[in-house]
Amino acid sequence: MRERLRELKDEAWRYIAEADDTGELDKIRVRYLGKKGELTGLLRNMGSLPPAERPEIGKMVNELRGQMEGFLQERFGKLEARELERRLQRETIDIPLPGRKPAIGHKHPLNQVLDEIKTLFIGMGFDVVEGPEVELDYYNFEALNLPPDHPTRDMQDTFFITDDILLRSQTSPVQVRVMEKQNPPVRIIAPGKVYRVDFDATHSPMFHQVEGLLVDDHTTFGDLKGILGAFIEGIFGKGRGIRFRPSFFPFTEPSAEIDVECIMCNGQGCRVCSHSGWLEILGAGMVDPRVLQKVGYDIERYQGFAFGMGVERIAMLKYGIDDIRLLFENDMRFLEQF
Ligand code: PHE
Repeated sequence: MRERLRELKDEAWRYIAEADDTGELDKIRVRYLGKKGELTGLLRNMGSLPPAERPEIGKMVNELRGQMEGFLQERFGKLEARELERRLQRETIDIPLPGRKPAIGHKHPLNQVLDEIKTLFIGMGFDVVEGPEVELDYYNFEALNLPPDHPTRDMQDTFFITDDILLRSQTSPVQVRVMEKQNPPVRIIAPGKVYRVDFDATHSPMFHQVEGLLVDDHTTFGDLKGILGAFIEGIFGKGRGIRFRPSFFPFTEPSAEIDVECIMCNGQGCRVCSHSGWLEILGAGMVDPRVLQKVGYDIERYQGFAFGMGVERIAMLKYGIDDIRLLFENDMRFLEQF
């Protein structure tokens, strides 16, 4: 038995001395001192020894156990220190290295333009209101002087949900909703999404419009020109030529389309303006008295003007974007430029 203990000690000491890391050392500890360990096994087998030898052998085993624990601890301390040292070397912190900036987002170019538009009109005393995107035929068409089956409805290819419910094709229905609830003076803009059956480089089935409406007494076409002139100057800068072209909308009379001097070529003529030197950016006109009458306004006393613009179009012109789809693909390489 003494012989066996000596062998066991030599063997264990060799292993402990050779162990290269704390993990290996722990395996050795378990092998000798664990519940099923070799030394533990010896203690457990004391019963098979002649009773006379038991106290002495027991004492030897316990002594060896104590020594082994001490030696293990000593080696563990050394290996642990070495491992810490290595880890610290591996993980040195490069203090002058610039930190990683967290990616913080910013406003989508469309929202940036929309905010600019709102700010300009709020500055001129307009309120911002919203209306539903799923709209009644009545508000989207009929109340705006587009009767059922009338050819003017063909101006907009519409998504119908039922015969009298549709995805609004313009923000103009908000005009009617506001006027039904409020007496003049009315001075509002109504930004929001609109939907049309259309899809190519300059048309998207969903896009954004901003509607404008002003109704008061003594409201003239001159006021409309003044307001839109100030707006265009705010968005595209001072000194840019503006022109009003006669046009048609069912709910305004007279109607106009408003062009701004091409911001790519300054009116010289280029691909973007189809060599005309002008870019169309707004539809507008004096509100047709029939629209005012339908909401119960006194048309002897009140006149109004209305205008509507596409936010995508303004963003595309302002930033020189040639494909509307870029605005909705959310490609970071595109968005980061704004
Ligand atoms: N709603 C019209 C359109 O989408 C634009 C417009 C608004 C024209 C207001 C005149 C007055 O084409």
